[in-house]
Amino acid sequence: MTLAVADSAGGLVLNEAQQAARDTAREFARERLLPIAARIDEEGAVPADVLSELGRIGFFGVFVPERWGGAGLDAVSYALVIEEIARACASTAVIISAHSSLVCAVLLEHGTDAQRERWLTPLAQGTRLGCFALSEPGSGSDAKAMRTTARRDGDGWVLNGTKNFITNGASGHVAVLLAQTDPAAGHKGIACFVVDKGTPGFTVGKLEHKLGIRGSDTAQLHFADCRVGPESLLVAPGSAFRAALHALDGGRVGIAAQAVGIARASLEDALDYARQRTAFDRPISEFQAIQWKLAEMATDIDAARLLTWRAAALKDAKRPYTTQAAMAKLAASAAAVRAATECVQIHGGYGYIREYPAERHYRDAKITELYEGTSEIMHLVIAEGLLKG
Ligand code: CAA
Repeated sequence: MTLAVADSAGGLVLNEAQQAARDTAREFARERLLPIAARIDEEGAVPADVLSELGRIGFFGVFVPERWGGAGLDAVSYALVIEEIARACASTAVIISAHSSLVCAVLLEHGTDAQRERWLTPLAQGTRLGCFALSEPGSGSDAKAMRTTARRDGDGWVLNGTKNFITNGASGHVAVLLAQTDPAAGHKGIACFVVDKGTPGFTVGKLEHKLGIRGSDTAQLHFADCRVGPESLLVAPGSAFRAALHALDGGRVGIAAQAVGIARASLEDALDYARQRTAFDRPISEFQAIQWKLAEMATDIDAARLLTWRAAALKDAKRPYTTQAAMAKLAASAAAVRAATECVQIHGGYGYIREYPAERHYRDAKITELYEGTSEIMHLVIAEGLLKG
């Protein structure tokens, strides 16, 4: 199996801690995930013992400080870990990514110490799983049009509404939820809550049957007169919607890294196949038509990875990175779809059947152009960054 493709810039750009995080993730991915990736896709779940192991290694809290149960690493390390995991299993990568970028990050940034202790620490240790509940049946890209409400009730709140397409929605133990407290106030009326599964009135609805990333569950969440106490309010109305968009900036770095991992899997599997498959008395890797595809895939992937690392490095440097995160996601998701398409093409008919991983990469790649902001929204975010200077 080819695994050298990712190393082209690593030794030049990454520090020792980042390389160590990448190497640990790569070894885990190769030993524990790659052999079962097809089964995860087929059966629609990542085995619980694999998730527990990932938690013990620290991969559910890569950038969470050790004080709160995390590994205390940086955003670049996080991107490296997600890429390596996604190279073996895109489903496992999004389970970690949604949990980390959108749940741990919001608790870390906005939680009180009491909230961090109660919710963040078990999440970062991987003993509990988180989901981020923003989208609704009638609002995806237009996130602020949400209809889920939060009504004041004494010192607490009562939540009502339905959230849609929620990664880890069924398996997650904790939801970070956005809800409207005052529709007349627009996005300034939106507040952010942290709610435990098991709270009366909070139920899991239908599970989606998806094209790809089938090992990660995607579910509807229902809130029917779900009462939460004051300790559940994570970000007050006024700034919660901005906090959610800010979390999505970090999420987009994670999805860009996931896309790079899927693209790399496509390239590495195509390389292996092209070397061993013969046609017209020679390996098909000797044909220029195949070589051009491989060369373009490799160039695309390196460009996407460097954009991803740049966005992560800006995040680590606490500099603005909204535009750069959108660029990384836009480029990496397109690279993943192109690479997976070419991987199938290079495999010919074998690319279309379950015996080879090519068709899984093809199915897994597409979602990276959709979730945590579609490619169309990425264009808008980038253009806004340019026009605002
Ligand atoms: N960070 C912080 N604040 C931001 C921001 C950012 N990146 N972008 C905008 N804001 C602020 C704005 O300054 C504005 O604040 P003020 O009014 O106080 O000045 C406020 O947020 C609202 O901004 P806009 O008026 O620009 O908002 P908008 O509604 O017009 O749309 C958008 C902006 C870019 C389209 C945004 O809604 C968006 O990103 N939509 C896509 C939503 C998305 O990515 N959903 C993914 C679902 S989660 C998911 O997929 C997870 C999963 O399970 C895998």
